[in-house]
Amino acid sequence: MNIIKLNAISSTNDYLKELNAATPAENFTTVVAEYQTAGKGQMGAKWNVEPGKNLTFSVLIKDVLPDVAGIFNLNVAVAVSVVQALNSLALQEINIKWPNDILAGSKKIGGILIENAIKPDGSIQSVIGIGLNVNQTDFNGLPKASSLAIVSDKTFDKEQIMMAILNALRANVEFVNNNAQQLLDTYHSLLFKKNIPATFEKDGSRFVGIIQGVSASGNLIILHENDKVAEYGLKEIALLY
Ligand code: BTN
Repeated sequence: MNIIKLNAISSTNDYLKELNAATPAENFTTVVAEYQTAGKGQMGAKWNVEPGKNLTFSVLIKDVLPDVAGIFNLNVAVAVSVVQALNSLALQEINIKWPNDILAGSKKIGGILIENAIKPDGSIQSVIGIGLNVNQTDFNGLPKASSLAIVSDKTFDKEQIMMAILNALRANVEFVNNNAQQLLDTYHSLLFKKNIPATFEKDGSRFVGIIQGVSASGNLIILHENDKVAEYGLKEIALLY
């Protein structure tokens, strides 16, 4: 496995995209940095964490998704891989908040940013960015953030955790095309607030509903109080927690 280790970089996602554009890199090429100066989160947010204490890395996946239809399956494979890797290191009560936040209990310990590019032949190349809060213990002003060190009262070897995630990802990527349902079933079993009443915000107003699951395309399926079931995309709705 080709693993490039950097000290500081703007964003491991951007670095890997540029590297692969300059000279095509092999599948699973990984870039890990001690510190990102312009780390990117989902929906244009920033990903700012304490230098040296956390995992920030990106993995190139190519020749896996035949077309855009499978993009959510890859998202599922990545989220499930992170949870399975943490479970394999004896970390329990790790779950997934739709679509791909990693929670310990009800606090966010990690996030995933997948950037896809459609190649001229229609195939997809994906840069999978994973940020995992490992040994940081101070999240001043961020009451919903946590880390592995906080939840387990230990410090961790970041490299060991990254290798566990990469190994789980290699195994699960095999299922993306030929057993996506098994991955989705596992994802559902790990889904935060599934089957229990939760509060959502849509267009500035709040409502209570029950998450039934996630569709194959990645929409959240919610049972409303009037017994109607509706599907929502990522930009349409927020789960409050
Ligand atoms: C989120 O908003 O929850 C997603 C955060 C993703 C952060 C990771 S850190 C490594 C990679 N490089 C980036 O710039 N972002 C991702």
